[in-house]
Amino acid sequence: MKQLLFLGDIVGAPGRNVLQRELGALRESLGLDWVVVNGENSAGGSGITRSIAADLTRAGVDVVTLGDHTWDQRGFDSDITATPKLCRPANLPKQCPGEPWFISTSADGARLLVFTVLGRQFMTPKTDCPFETSDRILRDLQGQYDYALVEIHAEATSEKVALGWYLDGRASLVVGTHTHVATADTRVLPRGTAYQTDAGMCGPHEGIIGREIAPVLGRFLDGMPRRLPVAEGDVRLNGCLVQLGEDGLACGANRFEWCEQEG
Ligand SMILES: [Fe+2]
Ligand SMILES: [Fe+2]
Repeated sequence: MKQLLFLGDIVGAPGRNVLQRELGALRESLGLDWVVVNGENSAGGSGITRSIAADLTRAGVDVVTLGDHTWDQRGFDSDITATPKLCRPANLPKQCPGEPWFISTSADGARLLVFTVLGRQFMTPKTDCPFETSDRILRDLQGQYDYALVEIHAEATSEKVALGWYLDGRASLVVGTHTHVATADTRVLPRGTAYQTDAGMCGPHEGIIGREIAPVLGRFLDGMPRRLPVAEGDVRLNGCLVQLGEDGLACGANRFEWCEQEG
């Protein structure tokens, strides 16, 4: 049996620092074979840089995934090709730089395929169909992986649930990201795919999806533009912990949360 930990969007320095500090101990205590993290908000809340990605992998992250904020940091469009263990959303236009998927090999040689698809409901990037893209990658790479993690970075719950059912029995885990709020629907679907609508975020929970409360609230109240700094308090790591069987599918899945206060 293998243990896979998927963690939701890292938000800014608070999320990064706690993850980097705690991941070694978590890997040990949970007996993790893989840790996969969405890093799309890791640089000041928007995007990622090559050096942040390197810090994350040095801390014990096996694969860094991204979302609609992939290109937010200037220069990352050229840095991405030199950034290892990281993939950009697979259904972006094919001329976009970066790898659309990554295969991570565990210490004992098991191969985990990881890719992210962006949803198309209420999302702005130009994308191909997330369902067809998932089909194509799973089919084209058949024989090159033992387990498959498909991340759906999307706003609409229904689109995420639909992809879970669509890939049931073909992926080891289908997990959502992007809303930064963890959902309480973690389960293993009938044909063996673990599923959770949203993994939540690794970042400050005393805030509004990772940002300071007052400016976000102010923007809702008066609509005026303002800076939205990353919040600081109550940093938590949110995600999904999955047990994987020899058949490439899930035999168990639980929502994961680590809170600073409880340690
Ligand atoms: Fe995000
Ligand atoms: Fe996002």
